[in-house]
Amino acid sequence: MSTDALVIRNAVKRRGKVETVSDLSLTLNAGEIVALLGHNGAGKTTLIRMILGLTRINGGDISVFGAAPGDARARRRTAFLPEAVAFHKSLTGREQLRLFARLAGEPRGVIAPLLDRVGLSEAADRRIGTWSKGMRQRLGLAQVLLGKPRLALLDEPTSGLDPMSRHDFYAIVDELAAGGTAVLISSHALTELEARADRIAILRRGRLVADDSLTSLRRRARLPTRLMVTTASEQSGQVASRLGGAQINCRGVELICDPDGKMAHLGRIAELGGLVDDVDVIPPSLEDLYRHFATGREQT
Ligand SMILES: Nc1ncnc2c1ncn2[C@@H]1O[C@H](COP(=O)(O)OP(=O)(O)OP(=O)(O)O)[C@@H](O)[C@H]1O
Ligand SMILES: [Mg+2]
Repeated sequence: MSTDALVIRNAVKRRGKVETVSDLSLTLNAGEIVALLGHNGAGKTTLIRMILGLTRINGGDISVFGAAPGDARARRRTAFLPEAVAFHKSLTGREQLRLFARLAGEPRGVIAPLLDRVGLSEAADRRIGTWSKGMRQRLGLAQVLLGKPRLALLDEPTSGLDPMSRHDFYAIVDELAAGGTAVLISSHALTELEARADRIAILRRGRLVADDSLTSLRRRARLPTRLMVTTASEQSGQVASRLGGAQINCRGVELICDPDGKMAHLGRIAELGGLVDDVDVIPPSLEDLYRHFATGREQT
C-alpha cells in the first residue's frame, strides 16, 4: 500500500487572468516534514487552502489519502493551523478546547494533558482575549493535536513564538511525524527549519522551483562553501598568502571554494601542520539556498 498522504498533480489556481499556483506537483508521505518556502505572495497559503478544499482548483488534481480536498474522509484526517488563529476571545482556553473536543468527538479527558503538552496549563482558565499572540498560537497547536491528524498543514506556525516556544513547538512536530503524520509547514523562519525539515519545497510566483532534501539542494545549487581557518598563533598573514584566502584578523583566514574543490583545499590546509589550529567547514545555509532558488538564480 502506498504511504502517500498527499498527492498534488499539476495543480493550477487562477485569480482572474493571473495564475497564483501554476502546474504544481508535490507529494507528502506519511511521517515526512516538508517545509514550504516562498516570498510573500508566492502562493503558500493558496496552496494550503487548495489542499483543504477551501478554494476551488482550476486544473490538475489533489488527493488527500485518496479522497478529494474537502471531502469528509480527507477532512477527518487533516488538521490546519491558519496564519492568523482566531478563537472566541470571551472563552477560556479550556472552554475553547472543550468545544473543539466536542466537535472532534473526543472525550473531555484529553483536554488537560493536551493543555499541559503545549504549555498552557496555567493560563487555561483565563479568557483567550487576555492571552498573548504566542499563547493563542499554542492553543492552535493544541487544536491541531486534538484531532490526531494524519496530515497537518501549518501556515507560518511559529511567527508569534519566542525561541523556547519554537523549540517546544518543533519537538511536538517531531513527535507527530514520528507517529506517522505528514507535516507541511509554510514558513519564513529558514534557520529553524534547516535542521528539521526532511524536504524543502520552494515556491516562486506560484511555481514549485525546488522540492528536495537540503543535501540535494546544496548539490544542485553548487553554491560555494566557506572554510574558516584559525591559525596557531598570529600567522594569518602567512597562511592567507600560502592558501590564497582572505585574512580576517590576526588569527583567521577565510577561503571560499566550490563544492568540488573543498577536499583539495582541506588537504592543503592539513599540509600546513602546526601553523593551523582549527578549520570550520561552513556549507551554504538554507537562507543562501532559498535566495538562490526563490529569486531565480538557478540555471535548471
Ligand atoms: N482571495 C484572493 N483573491 C485574489 N487574489 C488572492 C486571494 N488570495 C490570495 N491572492 C493572491 O494570490 C497570490 C498568492 O497569495 P498567498 O496568500 O497564497 O501567498 P503566500 O505565499 O501565503 O504569502 P505570505 O508569505 O505573505 O503569507 C498573491 O498574489 C495574492 O494576492
Ligand atoms: Mg501566506
